[in-house]
Amino acid sequence: GTTRTPLIAGNWKMNLDHLQAIAFVQKLAWSLKDARHDFDAVEVAVFPPFTDLRSVQTLISADKLPLKFGGQDLSAYDSGAYTGEISGAFLSALDCQYVIVGHSERRTLHNEGDDEVAAKVAAAIKHGLVPVLCVGETAEDLEKHGPSAVPVAQLKAALAGVKDGANIVVAYEPVWAIGSGQAATPEQAEQVAAQLRAVLVELIGQESAAATRILYGGSVKAANIAGFMRQPNVDGALVGGASLDLTEFSSIAQFQ
Ligand code: G3P
Repeated sequence: GTTRTPLIAGNWKMNLDHLQAIAFVQKLAWSLKDARHDFDAVEVAVFPPFTDLRSVQTLISADKLPLKFGGQDLSAYDSGAYTGEISGAFLSALDCQYVIVGHSERRTLHNEGDDEVAAKVAAAIKHGLVPVLCVGETAEDLEKHGPSAVPVAQLKAALAGVKDGANIVVAYEPVWAIGSGQAATPEQAEQVAAQLRAVLVELIGQESAAATRILYGGSVKAANIAGFMRQPNVDGALVGGASLDLTEFSSIAQFQ
């Protein structure tokens, strides 16, 4: 993507406690500053576990670090009797800019369906967060329906209630590529990203579709990031495993 600011995002999943988190974020910021990373040219964000967010926020604001951060999930509700849930209002109050919604691990391990994902996208927007909406097909889907059918259906369902002009990020994460070491090819990622962008035009309008960052996720590492970033419709990466390795993640952020 040429006109969109690339976003390199690290989804830590259930890794690093709050003490490890502040050590990691500090080192990440140092390493990128050392490398003269242009944070305006390539945005870098981390998605720590909920229990880390307050510490990460405090560090980032005290040291004025140019890193963005967000939660890995949020509740569809604002507040109330939902034991164990976290409201988008709480994430906003912690200065989160982003929140991941509909990650395949939530969809699979917590049975999140399209309606719940749609409600969470709406909740994120309501609370001033930019949802990083994850879509992607399983190996079985790929065999049965081809690469784009399931991600496109998930995108349409998730954005059903979203209006023209919405500020969102979409992450195309083929389930078969997540944590498998078997990334999609840059061409595969581009093909689906282009389809998703075409659908975004229908859903949120031409202007927002053109401004929406579409990330690729699934076994991204320093050695393969450049190929993805050369694709016109791929505007960044959602990185899992490699986001926990300081050297890997900072080289991914410096893909150019
Ligand atoms: O959300 C990122 C993710 O699911 C990809 O994980 O470990 O394949 O980079 P990984």
